[in-house]
Amino acid sequence: MLSRKIADRLAAFETPFYLYDINLLRQTLDSAVTVASRYGFRLHYAIKANYDPHILAVIKEYGLGIDCASGNEIRCAIEAGFDPEGIVYAGVGKRDKEIRYAVSQGIFSINCESLQELELINSIAGEMGVVQDVALRINPDIDPKTNSCIDTGQADSKFGISYEEVMANAAEIQAYRNVRIRGMHLHIGSQIRELHVFEYLCDKVNAIVECLTGLGFTLDFIDVGGGLGINYDIPENEPVPNFSSVFAIISQNLNVGGREVHFEFGRAIVAQCGELITKVLFRKDTATGRKLVIVDASMTELIRPALYGAYHNIENITSAETRKERYSVVGTACESTDVFDQSVSLPVTHRGDLLTIKSAGAYGMSMASRYNLHDLPDAVYSDEIV
Ligand code: LLP
Repeated sequence: MLSRKIADRLAAFETPFYLYDINLLRQTLDSAVTVASRYGFRLHYAIKANYDPHILAVIKEYGLGIDCASGNEIRCAIEAGFDPEGIVYAGVGKRDKEIRYAVSQGIFSINCESLQELELINSIAGEMGVVQDVALRINPDIDPKTNSCIDTGQADSKFGISYEEVMANAAEIQAYRNVRIRGMHLHIGSQIRELHVFEYLCDKVNAIVECLTGLGFTLDFIDVGGGLGINYDIPENEPVPNFSSVFAIISQNLNVGGREVHFEFGRAIVAQCGELITKVLFRKDTATGRKLVIVDASMTELIRPALYGAYHNIENITSAETRKERYSVVGTACESTDVFDQSVSLPVTHRGDLLTIKSAGAYGMSMASRYNLHDLPDAVYSDEIV
């Protein structure tokens, strides 16, 4: 981890802050883009994972498109210089004004999540005198074998349109004059580590594409979403996620003719390059004997542990102690679930020590809040200090 190598220099910055290893971000992008190009796959970056302008500027250099989940995310991507032609927009609850904005920007595709939404896009595009390219987001009913808080492709999920509903309404869908159904979109969940799940995804996609083309849909592209997981347990063992395996699986199992294949990775691109650096405020023991380390970050900077019970590896990067103790690392927020780790073994830890909470580049800063009127954390970039 970068933070340990430059710990002495980090003392100059006000904690808590996000530290981004831009070299690692570049290595990750290099790997993703190099392997994807072997197969002719097109990559989008899911901007919801992290919309930091410095990070976006680096991602832009590698030619990725952007996957957005709101009108403001589309605006942010365009302001960061991304071409609207490479922007896709999914979301179960798109507001009218967001659809209007997306249509006005001429984005690559609106990934439509209900028949009612399709009707609305058609009518808004009609009012604006244009034909909007869309993809149907199909719910394929697959268990992605991940934390149930972040799966999105099972039959009961709020995301996507059921395949049966598309089949039953095919003629009506094709009759719309101001939308052109150009693609099919799926996203089954996030932090997927059991990669064979992507084989099931391919099997479903192959069957659905065959049926839809039989019904007269001409699909130019298949967007298989994001979801590739990362190693939160020991990030040092896998700083760059396994893009080769997932692309090989998709290439070997997807059978969709010459159609373009798109991906939308968020976590896999940015998670490992980010660390949350926080300072120890206090040490105290509870009446039950639990040893608390109270740090100056909280769920307002990184909500994943409190929200999903997510694990992030924590290290004390300044301690010179050799003896270890087991601590609960807790934050400053007025919430009992504001715990980064219930039981982590660290060198004996004192007020003023710096801790790193690793793998925090994705869904860290982008989910930060101002609860308790905390300030939003700053960011420090390795290419500006190293
Ligand atoms: N495409 C769509 C349509 C999505 O909904 C998502 C994530 C992605 C792509 C990117 O997925 P990724 O490659 O990052 O797995 N806040 C949660 C994750 C929520 C993901 C939401 N959708 C977390 O911190 O784990």
